[in-house]
Formats: sequence, structure tokens, C-alpha cells
Amino acid sequence: MKKLFYNARIHTPEDPGHAPSGSAQKNIRQYPKGALLVHNGVISQIGNEEELRKEIVRNETIIDQEIDCSGRCLIPGFVDPHTHMCFARRREEEFARRLGGASYLEILEKGGGILSSVRSVQEATDRELIDNTVSHALSALSYGTTTVEMKSGYGLDADQELRMLAVISQVAKTTPLTVVPTFMGAHAIPQEDKENPDRFVDRVVREMLPQVASQGIARFCDVFCEQGVFSIEQSRRVLAAAREHGLGLKIHADEVHDLGGAGLAAEMEATSAEHLLAAGEENLRQMAAKGVIGVILPATAYSLKKPYAPVRKMIEMDVPVALATDCNPGSSYTESMPFIFGLAVMNMDMDVEEALTAATLNAAYAIGEERRSGSLDAGKNADFLLLDGATPAILAYHAGVPSVQAVYKLGERVV
Ligand code: NIG
Ligand code: FE
Repeated sequence: MKKLFYNARIHTPEDPGHAPSGSAQKNIRQYPKGALLVHNGVISQIGNEEELRKEIVRNETIIDQEIDCSGRCLIPGFVDPHTHMCFARRREEEFARRLGGASYLEILEKGGGILSSVRSVQEATDRELIDNTVSHALSALSYGTTTVEMKSGYGLDADQELRMLAVISQVAKTTPLTVVPTFMGAHAIPQEDKENPDRFVDRVVREMLPQVASQGIARFCDVFCEQGVFSIEQSRRVLAAAREHGLGLKIHADEVHDLGGAGLAAEMEATSAEHLLAAGEENLRQMAAKGVIGVILPATAYSLKKPYAPVRKMIEMDVPVALATDCNPGSSYTESMPFIFGLAVMNMDMDVEEALTAATLNAAYAIGEERRSGSLDAGKNADFLLLDGATPAILAYHAGVPSVQAVYKLGERVV
């Protein structure tokens, strides 16, 4: 099946074969009157419409279907490389308490926050957990996310963590999205281990990780390195064990306090370090030297009312920057990458071009999906969006209003 999408203003990041950083993050290829030839869901050619049509005639290629994009802007589907969207219940009363002045870590310390989501996952049936996660995933898809990472981490014991990962793989089978699963058993310390957190780390390393690895149901391992949660030493232990088991490494680093998580990410040569709101300069420099991607979550800063991550500094230092929602019931409840895009451009001073690369190509690199997604190149999946505007700037300009008019996954219209 060959489809030709024509009359499109195409904007796509340039894929140099590694996550672009510094000024290269601005490299966007544009075709003001562009076309995309799709063969069985995969891009076979992209270019200027006139030239592409000539080539089609020259090669006597038979096109089964032609789709007029009516001059709308066409960009790659968003890749959301950091979510906790597998959860059972919202935490609206906690949000109200935070608005009243309670802090996120205080709530967790008292057994709420992540620990209250752990209880609701335990109470939910598989059906409820699957239905909830599917509804978050479909909501993300409607906002233009075609590839999404999902973390476990509301289980905190072997059975429940494996159950969450099984639910995530079920969701992957029942929605059009590409789903990348991450094991995050080290997301919080269960209350019974509060006095002896190393005992819980033992269970993560000796009990959970080997089973996760032998079932092959996660591609990455993540850990919440934070004051009152996992220390640098405990995080290093979890990540070292994960590496032994062949998992890719991620770390929630310096979200509230600067413990040096960014430096640990560099030391372990993790694929990415997430959050980085409080990350120190020297550690960011080390991340740049090792090519560790900084996954920035502006909706978390928004929801926690914290200063945004120092993205300009990171780009100047050559840290490849990606953007994600962090979709979860506590610190950032949104499935919308356009919202993230708007925050990045308006509140973190990212250029539209930098934000586009961050929300697509660098996000794909952050979850090992760069060969299939993140840019519009021959050989990659035909995952793309049509926007109600002439350039991707519409996502920030038309604030709070959906600008994604159509979502295509593997060349099929899904929204
Ligand atoms: O990335 N910080 C740790 N984990 C999530 C929040 C999860 C939750 O509050 O349920 C985050 O902010
Ligand atoms: Fe997170």
C-alpha cells in the first residue's frame, strides 16, 4: 500500500545519527510545499512535492491513495519519553493540599503521594488498571503523542511491579501507540522499610530486577534519586544491577534537591537524566561530556510551582535536551505534549526549533526509539501530525487550544 501525502508544510528535525545538542538542536529541515511517500506504514521518501512527483512518474511508482494536507504544517508525531501514566486513581485532594501550601515531599513523607498511588494500584483490578492506562494513552494520542514511555513504580514489590509491567504490555497491544516500558521499582520506600531503606534496595536488586529481566518486560530501569527517597549510593546500586541485567538506564535526578543525580547519570553513562530542576553546573557539564540526554519536564515545575529547569544553560553546555509530560497523578497531571511545548517556548525560553527537536527526535533518542521515530526520514515509521497553522509555533501561539488536527500512526489516521 503506497500513500502520497502532499501539499504539506513539512518541518522535521535533522537526524545526525545521535541526539543533537547545542546549536544543532535548532536544525530543522523544511519543505514549504512538501510531500511524503509512505509504503506500508513506513516513510519511503520525503521532499519537495514537485520533485517527488517527477520522481514518482520517472520510476512509474503506483500510488494507491493521495491525501491533500491542504497546506497545513506537518511534523513528526510527538514522542513522550517520561510518563507514569499507568496508575489507578487521581490524587485531587492532594493537589488541593499542595495549593494550600503543603509540599510534595512532605505529603510523601507522611505516607501520601506516590505511596497513596501504590495503595490504589494494589486495590484496583487488572481490568481497572488496564482501562485507566488505556484511557491516558488514548488521551495522549489525541494530543499528538505517537510513541510513549511508561514506568512502573506504583507496585514497590515484585508481584505488583511485574503486574504493572504486564498491564503496560497489554496497553501496548491494545492502542495504536508505540509503548516503551521502564521498570521503576525504586520509586519510593514502602513505609515498612522506612527505618531500613537498604533492605528495600536489596529487594529491588535481588528479587525484582532478576524477574523483570528474565520476563523481558522492561527496556529501561529508572530510580528516584532524591532527599528522603534514594540516596546517590542506593541509586548507583540499583542502576549498576540494572546494567548487569542488560537494561538501559534512566534516573530521576535533582528534581527537588541537588544530590548530584546528574553527575551519577554521567558516571553510569545513563541514556538520560530526568527533571534536573536543581542540577548543579559541574554535573551538567559531565552529562554533556557523556552525551546523557536531559529529559526536561516543565509541567512538573508548573504543578509544583518551582522554577523551571535551566534549559538555556543546558543547551549552551551542549546537553541534548528532550521534553516530556511526566504524566502522573501527583506532580504533573497532563497527557498533553502541546502544553509542554507551550511551556518550553514561553516559560523556558526555548526556540520553537529547539522545542520541536526536544519533543520528537531527542525524545526518541531518550528511549532508544530513534531508528523508528522522532524525525521524518526514509525508513522511519510514518508517524506524523497535521497542525492547524503554518509552523509548529502555533502550538505555543494558540495557547490552551488544540492545534493538532490529525494524528497519523504508521500512515493511518488514528485521530
Ligand atoms: O517524576 N518524582 C517521582 N516520580 C514522579 C511523581 C510520581 C507521583 O507523584 O505519583 C515524578 O515527579
Ligand atoms: Fe517522573
